[in-house]
Formats: sequence, C-alpha cells, structure tokens
Amino acid sequence: MGNFFFQKDIISIRDLDREKFDTIFNATDKIIAMSPNERRELARGKTLGYLFFEPSTRTRLSFEAAMASLGGTSIGIADALSSSTKKGESLADTVRIMSLYSDVLVLRHQLDGSSRFAAEVSAKPLINAGSGTEEHPTQAILDLYTIRKEKKKIDGLKIGVVGDLKYGRTVYSLLYALGNYKVDVHLISPPALKIRADSTYEIQKRLPFKESTDLEENLDEFDVLYVTRIQKERFADAEEYAKVKGSYKIGLDMLKKMKDDAIIMHPLPRLDEISPEVDSTPYAKYFTQAQYGKDTRAALLALILNEKGI
Ligand code: CP
Repeated sequence: MGNFFFQKDIISIRDLDREKFDTIFNATDKIIAMSPNERRELARGKTLGYLFFEPSTRTRLSFEAAMASLGGTSIGIADALSSSTKKGESLADTVRIMSLYSDVLVLRHQLDGSSRFAAEVSAKPLINAGSGTEEHPTQAILDLYTIRKEKKKIDGLKIGVVGDLKYGRTVYSLLYALGNYKVDVHLISPPALKIRADSTYEIQKRLPFKESTDLEENLDEFDVLYVTRIQKERFADAEEYAKVKGSYKIGLDMLKKMKDDAIIMHPLPRLDEISPEVDSTPYAKYFTQAQYGKDTRAALLALILNEKGI
C-alpha cells in the first residue's frame, strides 16, 4: 500500500484515523531507533518553511529541530511584524511566496480556517501548527503518542481534561483524536470555559464524555490528567479572564489523591496551573511530551516528504 501522507496537507486531526495514527507512531519509533546518519537521509536537501503569526516556543522549534535531524533546513517568519505582512501583504500571497522557497510549510495563525485556506493557495503541502481556537493537529498526534508510550496503551484509559476547554485548541484536536479509541473522558472546567456547544455534538458522536467543574471529585479515577492553560489572549474582556484565572492548581497535595501510576500531561506553556514542585515527580510527563513533539513531527515530515514512507 502507498504512503498516505506523501505530499498531504495536515489541516485537521479529523482527517486521520486510528490506522493513520499507527503509521505515524510506527514511523516515530523507527526514527528514534535510527542512527543520526540514517535519519539525515530522510529530508536531505529539503526545506521547511514556517509562518508563525502567533507566538510559539515548542511547535516552531520542534519542527525546526525535527527538520535539522532529518538532514533538511528551515526558513521562516517567527514574528509577523518582521515580514511584509506588516506592509499589508495578504496571507495568501505570503503563503504563495513561501511555497516557492520550501518543500513543506508549517503555519500558525490566529484565525479559524486559516490553515485550510492557506493549503488551498500553497503549491506545497502545509501543516496546521495551530489555527485560531479551532485545532492544533500535530499537538494531538504527540499527545496520543505520549499516552501510548507512557501508559503502553490508549484503549481502556480514563482521561481527565481540565482547564480552558472553550478556547484551548489543543483540547479540540485531542478529543477528536480520542474519538478513535475506547476511552472514558471526563471534562472539567469553570462553567464559562466549557467545551463549545458547536463542537460538542460532533465530539459526542464518537466520544461520550462527562462534564463537571470540580477537579478533586474524580481525581482518584484518572489514568491521565491532561491540564491546560486558561488562554488569556483569547478573552475579549479582562474582567472575564480575572474571574476564571487560577481556577485549577495541581500541587503536591493533589498528587496524593491520584492513582500511583497516573500521568499528568500539559501541552505547555503553563502558567500557575501546575506547581513546579510536581515537575520532579513520576506523575509529570509534560516535558517528555514536548520531547515526543520533536520525534512525532520528524516522523510526519519524513512521511510527507518521502513517497515510500520510512
Ligand atoms: N504546545 C504548544 O503549541 O506550545 P507553543 O505555543 O510553545 O508552540
């Protein structure tokens, strides 16, 4: 069978299924096991072009590090203010130009629908690295890979997702992705930050979930606790943000209530929702998760760029 990912855009996690996740996970395992010399053949002479219209640490740098590890190079715009966007150039023209200079594009943009639109005008495959409040598909891929590696399975797990479920795009991609597995999901948020009603129906078709506001109530049941930041930048009203800021805080006291082998994940960046004291406990997997971000993105790039896969 051919390589599904060759020259494909990655816009929504909803375009992928369990079999395709397995292809990426197996490619990731292979890449991790390869020697640096073998790995450097996977994108030798290829260029990744990144366009980041919103801030990023992990996504942009892990894509760059991944491309370097595959023997390729990266060029890009890390700050829209330093590009001709500042002079009024459109997203469409910026994408068209970048696709002349690159073999694969990575876009982060504040508008919902931006990646799908950009993929239509790009002559090269485009990866969505975060589009508005909508989706962050490569985050969901690394999240699933982290669960699979750290818990040795995904089916059968009880997963708590806590924090800003209204604006956190990582949550939407994760829930759509989890719809491919037999998991028990519990969503915990302040009432004002519940998952958006327009997405609830679609998610619930494949992933029945419970909702509540109290984290401690079910803390002893979770195999995975996925913590998210309250997304200050997406609130129109500072007073509304002040009302929900600091709603959930995971400290050492909370760990005593969790299963001994539970793991805590977070897409990062974190503010105060996980105390730094938790970082050195066996529960904390958020930095490992960020490491897997580089590995899974390297696998995805290698699959997109190599017709025969890896
Ligand atoms: N998780 C994530 O997308 O982090 P960055 O915003 O730093 O890329």
